[in-house]
Amino acid sequence: MIRAEGVTKIFGSAPSTALPLMEAGKGKSEIQAETGQVVGVHDVSFTLEPGEVFVIMGLSGSGKSTLIRCINRLFEPTAGHIFFQHPDEGELDITRLSDERLRLLRKYHMSMVFQHFALFPHRSVLDNVAYGLEVQGKPREERHRHAQEMLEMVGLGDWGQAYPSELSGGMQQRVGLARALATDARVLLMDEPFSALDPLIKVNMQQELKKIQQQLGRTILFITHDLDEAMHIGDHIAIMEEGQVVQLGTPEDILVNPRTEYVARFVEHADPTGVITAGTIALPFDSQAFTTQSESDGLRFVAANDLTELRYGLDDQGRLQEARLGEQRLEIRSLEEVLDSEARGARRADLLMHCPRETVLRQVLRGRTRTALPTLVTNAEGRVTGLIDEPQLIRGILEKRGPSPDSEPQPAAEEASS
Ligand SMILES: Nc1ncnc2c1ncn2[C@@H]1O[C@H](COP(=O)(O)OP(=O)(O)OP(=O)(O)O)[C@@H](O)[C@H]1O
Ligand SMILES: [Mg+2]
Repeated sequence: MIRAEGVTKIFGSAPSTALPLMEAGKGKSEIQAETGQVVGVHDVSFTLEPGEVFVIMGLSGSGKSTLIRCINRLFEPTAGHIFFQHPDEGELDITRLSDERLRLLRKYHMSMVFQHFALFPHRSVLDNVAYGLEVQGKPREERHRHAQEMLEMVGLGDWGQAYPSELSGGMQQRVGLARALATDARVLLMDEPFSALDPLIKVNMQQELKKIQQQLGRTILFITHDLDEAMHIGDHIAIMEEGQVVQLGTPEDILVNPRTEYVARFVEHADPTGVITAGTIALPFDSQAFTTQSESDGLRFVAANDLTELRYGLDDQGRLQEARLGEQRLEIRSLEEVLDSEARGARRADLLMHCPRETVLRQVLRGRTRTALPTLVTNAEGRVTGLIDEPQLIRGILEKRGPSPDSEPQPAAEEASS
């Protein structure tokens, strides 16, 4: 949908003096000291896939707002290109559009929510929300009806006739959000749209945003300071430091494999239970922790070396067909079935669960309240690929990483600084 290539933004009177120093690998403060130019964004490339939520995170001053403003050219990039997949015209280089075409692009295809609400003080709340539709020339009745719907969605259905100055900061932010959502722009650029909201409203808005993205297929570039928010709504996350993207990946990638100390510090306090998946923390079934015990009736019985009486009977495709604890046959259920069924009584010792690799830790933990036995993890074909027992769960929660069969892993921060 959008592809940024080598986008650079330098603030100051002589940006070109900073470029050679940047190429020489000098840092932002050195460049500022030597040339007086401020590096806002430094050689950033990424691709925003249609229909995804792409989150940009980073400390204050790391260049997030500058980057998002380069995308719709509220800031003129000093170098680099931004390509936009136009529905009718094919791929356009935004950095080369004339002012007129840029205006059309912003009017119909990209709408932006600003970090500071930027509402029109002399328009009512309803007319603020309807603004984009008015610019597009939609009739009054239609735009008011649609704007009212959006206001209701952000919980301000009764405030249409009020003026922005009568609203609290968080309410104004919601008006800004409703205004961006009211147009049918495919791309939404959102600069910390939820930062002024109460935690409860914030979680509602995150859910609404996910719904809008999924149902309406909007593509969203979203800036936030809030890591759990990023993890919750992001399909991909880019972490910025001093104008550069230092890591880009899925939330789970970033949580499990932070590449630098800065990223590790960022994710240290994130809640992993909704992000890390069963496939990541499971002990691989083909590792040395498991041995084939016997073969009978066309099944191969495998057991973990530290719990040999619990045996898993697999068919020739590696799918689970039977499970035994000593001589006792166990009931086999998917995690989903277990969670859907009524919880009754104590944790069972005769129930074995399995779940797909994509299941998040939180679901596995829920299942573990029903049975004391390990959970098996399967791939899309139903083949058993791994096992999750208490050590894997604990390691996943505390260390945000999976098992390391060969050696004890180093803490991420130490790895990064070596
Ligand atoms: N209009 C401007 N003129 C000069 N320098 C600017 C301008 N806007 C931003 N900068 C500089 O660019 C750098 C990045 O700023 P930016 O606003 O992009 O940070 P940010 O990551 O959005 O921070 P925050 O989280 O505080 O919003 C900072 O060093 C800032 O001083
Ligand atoms: Mg900002």
